[in-house]
Amino acid sequence: MQGTREEFSSRLGFLLAATGSAVGLGNVWGFPTNTASNGGAAFVAVYFLLAFGLAYPALMAELVIGRHTRANIYSALQQITPPGIGQRLAGLTGLYAILVASAVLMFYTLVAGWVIAHLLAAAFAIAGLTGPAQWFSVGSLMRDIFCAGIFSLLTIVVVSQGVHRGIERWSTRLLPALLVLSLALTAYVLFQPGAMAGLALYLVPDFSRILEPQLLVSAMGQAFFSLSLGVGTMLIYGSYLRQDENLPTIGALVTVVDALVAFLAGLLILPAMFVAQDLGISIYSGEDLIAGPDLIFQVLPTLFSSMGLAGIVVALAFFTLLAIAALTSSISMLEVPVALAVEKTPVSRSGACWLIGGVIFLGTVLLTVKFEALFGLVVTMTTEYSQPLLGIALCLFAGWVLNRNQLLKEIRSGYPDAENSLFWKIWPFYVRFVCPSLIAATFIQSVIL
Ligand code: PHE
Repeated sequence: MQGTREEFSSRLGFLLAATGSAVGLGNVWGFPTNTASNGGAAFVAVYFLLAFGLAYPALMAELVIGRHTRANIYSALQQITPPGIGQRLAGLTGLYAILVASAVLMFYTLVAGWVIAHLLAAAFAIAGLTGPAQWFSVGSLMRDIFCAGIFSLLTIVVVSQGVHRGIERWSTRLLPALLVLSLALTAYVLFQPGAMAGLALYLVPDFSRILEPQLLVSAMGQAFFSLSLGVGTMLIYGSYLRQDENLPTIGALVTVVDALVAFLAGLLILPAMFVAQDLGISIYSGEDLIAGPDLIFQVLPTLFSSMGLAGIVVALAFFTLLAIAALTSSISMLEVPVALAVEKTPVSRSGACWLIGGVIFLGTVLLTVKFEALFGLVVTMTTEYSQPLLGIALCLFAGWVLNRNQLLKEIRSGYPDAENSLFWKIWPFYVRFVCPSLIAATFIQSVIL
């Protein structure tokens, strides 16, 4: 059972871990891909608006509930709800969030496995081992399961080391590396011929597209996914935060860095596509830019291999960047069910990690084998439907179940002057009424579409 509850050792430690969770395949792959399929800069503009206007307040709801209850999402929601049917609903909501976190980890591990495969292909190519390089660069069931297995092991090993020695220590090491790699790669790509056409598409908005319903829905889904919302990740990280930390500032920092990294990834990937086009690689399918897995795992590798030796090094750097981004996110997903198991049963942390991580990996294997039937379905069910719905629920819990005094007390801890702040003037009302209705409106529209 639980001894003294672990905490992040410093503000920076929390920031790097929470930002590490937020910055993931969603930023480096999802954001540029969504931008490519939604008309470029118009999507970028709407995304920024929603990240700060909708996702940040929802992130605050999770951080506040987490630090207030100091528990996993299942116990946390029950703890703040008065006994009775409401409490049972709270427990069910918590369990649903934990299931969604686990399902996200299943498909995330599959995609991260592709990343590992391309990383190893580049590494073997540099070492001159063409046989293995070839094996890892061509998709096969064996390769996909093997590489997803490697990624799964990495995730389990980090989480089993605990909040401080595992999650915090590894995020602190990996996130700075990720930032340096993405800056270096972006600088390199921007100087290649053709890059400027991509930059223009990325930065000059076509305002006629800004009100397209599909654009709004994609931008909201992307913002929620990118900030790891709705599934109890930020809640559990908030529960490991020290009492003297200023929640609104820390939440804002996570949101800003997450948005900046997404922006940076766009600066890298859209120009890279046009560099590819300049080299004769096709980057359109029909009228639209190629998006989805093909963009990262077809267009870019073709680009890298047409660049000679430099291309192999760039490929290694790029897939290392993606692997780091994926790992600092996957550990935060695994922490969600693991925290429940550790806090509610006598199982040890490492036992829980191996057991739950193992079951999730079996789910990944199933997704890999039944890819056509299941992959898209699981992605849609979790990210497009469940995350926004759970986002609404968590806003309602923070806004309606916790009362104003409890909220103020929690925010004041680490921010004594909170009562007079702009944050306090806006957020409590916002999280009660505005966030749930805006998320619901966008969601309903997406279901009707
Ligand atoms: N935020 C991560 C990304 O952008 C994904 C994630 C979703 C992480 C849900 C944790 C929980 O890739």
